[in-house]
Amino acid sequence: MKGCGVCGSSVEPVIFFGRMPLANGFLRQEDFSTEYFYDLTFGFCSNCRMAQLIENVPLEKMFHAEYPFFSSTSSGMTQHFRRLAHEVAHRWLQAPNAFVVEVGSNDGALLRNIAPLGIRHLGVEPSGNVAKAASSNGVETTCRFFDPVAARDIVATYGQADVVLATNCFCHIQDLHSLAEALEIVLKPVGVLIFEDPYLGDLIGNVAYDQIYDEHSYYFSILSVDHWLTQHGFETVDVRPQTVHGGSMRYVVGRVGTCERSRSVDTQKERELNFGLQRFETYLDFRSKIHFSREKLLRLLQRLKNEGRRVVGYAATSKSTTVLNYCEISTELIEFISDTTPIKQWKYSPGMHIPVRPPTEFESPYPDYALLFAWNHAEEITNKELHFNEAGGRWIRYVPRVEIVGEGGDK
Ligand code: TYD
Ligand code: ZN
Repeated sequence: MKGCGVCGSSVEPVIFFGRMPLANGFLRQEDFSTEYFYDLTFGFCSNCRMAQLIENVPLEKMFHAEYPFFSSTSSGMTQHFRRLAHEVAHRWLQAPNAFVVEVGSNDGALLRNIAPLGIRHLGVEPSGNVAKAASSNGVETTCRFFDPVAARDIVATYGQADVVLATNCFCHIQDLHSLAEALEIVLKPVGVLIFEDPYLGDLIGNVAYDQIYDEHSYYFSILSVDHWLTQHGFETVDVRPQTVHGGSMRYVVGRVGTCERSRSVDTQKERELNFGLQRFETYLDFRSKIHFSREKLLRLLQRLKNEGRRVVGYAATSKSTTVLNYCEISTELIEFISDTTPIKQWKYSPGMHIPVRPPTEFESPYPDYALLFAWNHAEEITNKELHFNEAGGRWIRYVPRVEIVGEGGDK
């Protein structure tokens, strides 16, 4: 059994999703025969309460010069980053010469709001193509993984940071202790760390099992984050639930005793204990719900196929890779997946090899049903696709429950 990435105790397997390809491993036909697979198993450490993957995929297989996820692809996220950037700049970056580091800065979606304010900043991003996109947007970026060596180099060049930011990034970092050491190096003694990641409470509460994939090594809660950070002299001083990514949590962290501690931390911890995030039974119940969700989705798609309906996938998200492969949904059940990201288009989805097409194909002509893989952007997408509805098209969702939107659950 694998040792926990935080405390070293043994991690109990909760659910095995089968052999899985890389969530963002969109590929060409000629690469089918060499496609990489690993065992996707979600596990839980009862000692420190960290939910995590049992097998980790080598980093270079996931984050490289053709990383297909661009943070700026949704207007909802763009707005979210703008608000966060302005809040941080206003509250923590007012001192002359203030300096902010963002870990996992992707295409600069967050820092591009800070750069024009003339604030010293640096994005750290290991995937070459997205790092380049950030640089061309005026965001100072270094293309590398964030670890103690990188942290020392940053301090030598720029000095220590007033603020370190990370959104949807820390849960991707396999060695959390090396990460914390790097944070200890890069942050000023009274510096603030602000990070947000998909929240375990929402993952379980909404049966959003498609958040589980290779890049997400950890599934954070306040309970587990505290266990990790206190080992390194940090404490969480504020937590704020966010709606993005289907439910995320923002953590504000400082060195112990340097920041005022909000009551939100204890309140949220209390909620987690009441919800049962510390109990293994909660995870077994989650597993049963995942099994049930798969059966319902397959039954629905099979029924629509038998009725001769056209079903198309909407958004070739990382999340869709888990659903498609775990449920074994092939082109028998969905024709293609429509996606706005040029680097994904005209390739095939990982594992099930469903063609990925640009949105122009979605409209010509519209299918009867669209299976919404970007359910976290539902509002933005349904508003944008009003013509699809007017043409009689219907949305299928599977989070928080399998349903044709507007018709209620499939019986
Ligand atoms: P996201 O949920 O952020 O993906 P992930 O599961 O990988 O975190 O959704 C981003 C993907 O969805 C990206 O491939 C672009 C696609 N997308 C569309 O195709 N159309 C849209 O209107 C939106 C908002 C996203
Ligand atoms: Zn542990």
